[in-house]
Amino acid sequence: MAGPIDLSEYGEAFTADPHVVYAELRERGPVHRVRLGPPSPAEGQEVWLVVGYEEARAALADPRLAKDMSKLGYVGLDVERIGPHMLMSDPPEHSRLRRLVAREFTARRVEALRPRVQQITDELLDQMVPLGHADLVESLAFPLPMTVICELLGVPDIDRAAFRRMSNEVVAPTSGEAEYAAIVELAAYLDDLIEDKRCTAPGDDLLSALLRTTAEDGDRLSREELRGMGYLLLVAGHETTVNLIANGVHALLTHPGQLAALRADMGLLDGAVEEMLRYEGPVENATFRFAAEPLDIGGTFIAQGEAVLVGLASADRDGEKFPEPDRFDIRRAAGGHLAFGHGIHYCLGAPLARIEARVALRSLLDRCPDLALDADRDGPPGPWIPGMLIRGMRRLPVRW
Ligand code: HEM
Repeated sequence: MAGPIDLSEYGEAFTADPHVVYAELRERGPVHRVRLGPPSPAEGQEVWLVVGYEEARAALADPRLAKDMSKLGYVGLDVERIGPHMLMSDPPEHSRLRRLVAREFTARRVEALRPRVQQITDELLDQMVPLGHADLVESLAFPLPMTVICELLGVPDIDRAAFRRMSNEVVAPTSGEAEYAAIVELAAYLDDLIEDKRCTAPGDDLLSALLRTTAEDGDRLSREELRGMGYLLLVAGHETTVNLIANGVHALLTHPGQLAALRADMGLLDGAVEEMLRYEGPVENATFRFAAEPLDIGGTFIAQGEAVLVGLASADRDGEKFPEPDRFDIRRAAGGHLAFGHGIHYCLGAPLARIEARVALRSLLDRCPDLALDADRDGPPGPWIPGMLIRGMRRLPVRW
């Protein structure tokens, strides 16, 4: 067998445009042994990378690929310092944790949040529009999902700059030490938040509800589980949606024909958002899984205990599933994309993310005619966030 593919050899280009690398890998086969590159704390580690659509979809639904690392005698840093959470657990623990919050995130419950999402968007645009130019990440894409998830959880006084710094470090670590420091800080931060909640009159927010109870059957969350739940929802609730809005606007602004088509018929909006998820989804690779028992993926033998990374961005550019995959086409049938994952860990927040993106895009296009990239004043968009988990840019300078 050939040795592992060393991803560090692709250098900075891999961060700027990973799709070229994934296309090359798909040409060679659906599953590869790769050595992770910098800046991940896992640099140098060898893992399996699944790049084909069919194989990725099957892997995401395969119960033999597990998430609870304690079964390997290893406890993830976030689980150890913050607490267990859905993305690091398997059934039956996973089913139990998910059941406690699932009802808050049904399409119907989330639809009821739409007026508030619209109001927050309008307020952000009221501040932004008179300026004539802005960094869209700073002005809209970040504060919208952050405000929504904070209100939903009931944490109005969060220090957003501090939270964003810690959260950015967790999803795209700059070093092992920095990641550790951020997680320790986040744990203390969540403790304070939960303690505050405990001491104030209970509201009708999610954190209060989780503190009070619990499911109909009287199930309760332990202190660590509550911290883990708050952590996962806060981090997952904004680190991703910010990039759906920014990547989506970026795709439109670099494809003027598509932008014009959408402006001419806003009925295409929902399909456009699905295409944005497929074309440049915010989660490049799913979180790590490991083989709880030996298995075969796409003809490749995976030994028990080995780590597997499922390539969502790669799967969604697989020409076998999506013809002319590198073409951004808001009219295509993008359904079946894996941007929200698949199987039991399918994104809990997908309905909310969709509403936020639809509201943000409609309002932005409505209030900013002639919206365009603003490279002359503020340089090109970017840089792209390093690492293999998140696909997104730090800044998106635009004018109108
Ligand atoms: C465009 C925005 C979003 C994208 C692309 C996205 C993507 C994903 C993906 C790919 C997974 C599965 C990861 C895996 O299997 O390893 C996931 C899980 C999850 N997401 Fe999202 N997400 C988004 C927004 C949100 C929002 C707004 C929330 C919260 C309100 C959220 C909460 C969660 C949770 C709790 C899980 C874990 C579910 C489980 O393990 O059962 N996400 N998300």
